[in-house]
Amino acid sequence: MGFSQTTPARMIPAEEHMADASPHPRRKPPVPTVDRCICHDVPFTEILAWAADRASTDLTDIEDQYGCGGSCGMCRPYLKRVLATGDSCIPLMLDVD
Ligand code: FES
Repeated sequence: MGFSQTTPARMIPAEEHMADASPHPRRKPPVPTVDRCICHDVPFTEILAWAADRASTDLTDIEDQYGCGGSCGMCRPYLKRVLATGDSCIPLMLDVD
């Protein structure tokens, strides 16, 4: 078993490398995201697919169907964003009421 490299290394010109003083100028820190109701282990993709077949859906409908939002409630602001945007992977929200 040996080492194999599938992508060739790319040389970064010194002036490009030195332009940013951060230790990893080409890497942005990963943005934590939420993609499901943790308590009920229901992905937002499943909720969106279910909601697509309905005329309208609100948080009460989701709680009635899946239980999401009715336990710890931490997913409620994410569910609001999911319904508003259609996105199933929401950046972590730290300041929510
Ligand atoms: S994460 Fe959805 S009710 Fe707790």
